[in-house]
Amino acid sequence: GLAGAGWAIGATLLPAEATGETLTSAVRLPRPFTVPLPIPPAARPVEPGRYELTQRAARVEIIPGTTTEVWGFDGAFPGPTLELRRGSRTTVRVRNELPVPTSTHLHGGVTPADSDGYPTDLVVAEGRTFRPSGGMHGHHDPSVWTFHSGAKDYVYPVEQRAATLWYHDHRMDFTAPQVWRGLAGFAIVRDDEDDALPLPKGERDIPLFICDRAFEEDGSFRYPSLDPTLLVRPGVEDAYMEGVQGDVILVNGAPWPVLEVGTARYRLRLLNGSNARRYRLELTGGARFVQVGSDQGLLAAPVEHSSLTIVPGERFDVVVDFSGYPPGTEITMVNALGESPNTRAVMRFRVTSRVRDDSRVPPRLAELPPADRAAAVTVRTFDFRRTRHDSGDMWTINGEPYEPGRPIAEPRLGTAEVWRFTSDFHHPVHLHLAHFQVLGRGTRGPEATDAGLKDTVDVRPYEIVDVLVRFDGYRGRYMFHCHNLEHEDMAMMADFRIV
Ligand code: C2O
Ligand code: CU
Repeated sequence: GLAGAGWAIGATLLPAEATGETLTSAVRLPRPFTVPLPIPPAARPVEPGRYELTQRAARVEIIPGTTTEVWGFDGAFPGPTLELRRGSRTTVRVRNELPVPTSTHLHGGVTPADSDGYPTDLVVAEGRTFRPSGGMHGHHDPSVWTFHSGAKDYVYPVEQRAATLWYHDHRMDFTAPQVWRGLAGFAIVRDDEDDALPLPKGERDIPLFICDRAFEEDGSFRYPSLDPTLLVRPGVEDAYMEGVQGDVILVNGAPWPVLEVGTARYRLRLLNGSNARRYRLELTGGARFVQVGSDQGLLAAPVEHSSLTIVPGERFDVVVDFSGYPPGTEITMVNALGESPNTRAVMRFRVTSRVRDDSRVPPRLAELPPADRAAAVTVRTFDFRRTRHDSGDMWTINGEPYEPGRPIAEPRLGTAEVWRFTSDFHHPVHLHLAHFQVLGRGTRGPEATDAGLKDTVDVRPYEIVDVLVRFDGYRGRYMFHCHNLEHEDMAMMADFRIV
């Protein structure tokens, strides 16, 4: 029960860094830092501005010596990296060959509503039928569901600044199990402003998709699910309620990998693609993260961190300088929040060669709009908490479980608002379409890791986080939600409509 899960509603305050339970793997795990870091291949356009990705099952070797069935874009986990160029409208045709419906969201994308990956706007494999069951929370208005047979074209105008985005499944009620099975990948927006900076480039610009998983004895993913057609592991519902965490840390789909580096600076695009795990990343050997970008691209100026807390959905674009380390040095990226040796280890960098390096981190990176509270036309408060409902406990916003098609806010296009998030637990809050700047946490100002333009923010237990949101881009129906994917599936989501 809940007591066993280590917390109680209202009665006991959570320790600031409380996490849920972790599923234990039954497969024989490799020694950390023995598997080379893979780099997800770039998606190849079928013609300029046009990609096709197929969601399908595939067997891949994640744990050496065994195979895992993944559901991946083009059968890969993470999927191929979409290279998007600012100003180049791009169409991605997503074909679904899976036994379940899907919806694909470009996280961080400034996307017209009909291509945003709405949870009830589903692609169903050709020849299959799907009847919405209402998932775990009741029956929805049938008019909110739309179906595409076989494939759907998602259109991305890409009129936004360079940034590290990602795409992932967003199916109503089942995002968490479907992302756990592999339906996610990077999408990197590039532009002239970012290209013009002397930051590390090419092979020294590396995306790192960090997530946790657990494995059954036969190598398959372990996951507790409420959907009998997916995977059922009775007895682990507590793990589901708080968000599912595994005991194996994967980077770009490899367990605790190692990367050989030269004596140079590297740009690392960190993404927390986990369902529920938060990480506090640190580097051994005195190495530091020089942050140059956040969720939505370049910061005004670099910010140095010795430790970086990253929550599900968040990205940090950092430069790490290996030039002061002689070949032979090993620098390990660890997770200071890990509850076990396995979950404290992330990956390792092994310095193997002396190289020349002309890159540097300039003291000014970009022009950002001022985070001026007075620019807001209104303040809205959204309370993220667990509430009791007839059908059991749910994660809700302002006490209401998600109801597709029913917006709870109608901001005007071109305006800014203050959105205030309050919370009873760790809730990484994510807004579709709109970008924001963190104004403060309670009576304090933003923290060092809050810098820049963001789309996902770490809201911690009993915290009040104010953000200045700009509603630019498009009119229409969008969502915001907790990016703990199990919370999202348990209804901690709401629509807003830009009018
Ligand atoms: Cu990364 Cu609505 O999601
Ligand atoms: Cu949450």
